[in-house]
Amino acid sequence: MENVRFAVYGVGPIGSLVARYGLERKWMELVAAFDIDPVKIGRDIGELVGLDERIGVVVQKPSLDILRSVRPDVVLHATGSFLDRIYEQILESVKAGSDVISTCETLSYPYYRYSELANILDLEAKKNNSTILGVGVNPGFLLDLLPAILTTPCLRVEKVIARRIIDASKRRESFRRKIGLGLDKKIFDEKIKNGEITAHVGYAESICLIADALGLKLDFIEERQEAVIAEREVMVGGIKIDAGRVRGVRGYGAGIKNDKEILKIEFTAAVGVEEEFEEIIIEGVPRIVWRSVGGTPGDLATAAVVLNYVPIVLKAEPGVATVNKLRPPSYSMVGV
Ligand SMILES: NC(=O)c1ccc[n+]([C@@H]2O[C@H](COP(=O)([O-])OP(=O)(O)OC[C@H]3O[C@@H](n4cnc5c(N)ncnc54)[C@H](OP(=O)(O)O)[C@@H]3O)[C@@H](O)[C@H]2O)c1
Repeated sequence: MENVRFAVYGVGPIGSLVARYGLERKWMELVAAFDIDPVKIGRDIGELVGLDERIGVVVQKPSLDILRSVRPDVVLHATGSFLDRIYEQILESVKAGSDVISTCETLSYPYYRYSELANILDLEAKKNNSTILGVGVNPGFLLDLLPAILTTPCLRVEKVIARRIIDASKRRESFRRKIGLGLDKKIFDEKIKNGEITAHVGYAESICLIADALGLKLDFIEERQEAVIAEREVMVGGIKIDAGRVRGVRGYGAGIKNDKEILKIEFTAAVGVEEEFEEIIIEGVPRIVWRSVGGTPGDLATAAVVLNYVPIVLKAEPGVATVNKLRPPSYSMVGV
């Protein structure tokens, strides 16, 4: 792989992991880092992401001028979950002629919630010869692309079920905050209602990705999530949840056709889960069951997914891409 010049846009927990592990790849060169947090602006990215050395790239306020002068091959973006709020940031990177890979959940299948914005981005990307991809571990891989790929050896598929259970105590602080850990149930419901917290975003996007991969035209999509309440005090990984408080969330997305649930994804993120795992069941001929042991560490895996898509996105057609339309991803051992 030739030298790839990349920028990180958003140096929170996920952007930091992307920068840190991107720097380890010999064929990747970090040329810029952007964030709006005044505490991060001006700091060397090497120090910020926990490396022992300064690497000579300081975090700057996002700017089209800087992007245009640096011209990264790809911008790795991790600032938010909702496309209407981060759309301008993606556009800025596209206008600089860069490809963009973003962890924005609703960008993983932007036609579901934001079809108008998706079409504008698609046009702008094509005009600027740039590819835009929304991807991460979930949505983007475990509960959508992977189940779709697992239908490959089937002669017939009746239903696709994918589940994921994770221990929220192992996840980054911003994740624990967005699932409302420790809140009173009433306050959790209020915060979800007014958008102050989001819990998991992307149930419907995952359903759309599976349906699109399978060429399945759904009648409708359902998504729902609720708080998981601690029945007694829970203490895991230094996190204590009092009885009666929120210890996590559980939710689902479903794809319905002819009154039948054809696609179902279920997700639980809570403190005090018995076991972490992902499980995919394809009801069909043959019946396929796949299950991970010990689960997939979501934050690290998201950074890995983003980095592993770099070579794919750089070679993809311009426009808005979705994972089911690109070549199957993998880790690249070139240069290792
Ligand atoms: N698809 C997936 O599988 C997946 C997996 C993990 C995460 N995600 C998503 O990826 C996103 C990033 O995760 P995170 O935990 O790192 O989020 P985070 O803790 O909110 O960090 C985001 C960083 O971006 C900065 N930022 C916000 N607006 C910005 C802007 N306009 N320009 C530049 N920087 C900006 C934030 O600064 P301030 O703190 O000052 O706002 C913060 O430093 C989240 O939306 C998360 O839900 C997706």
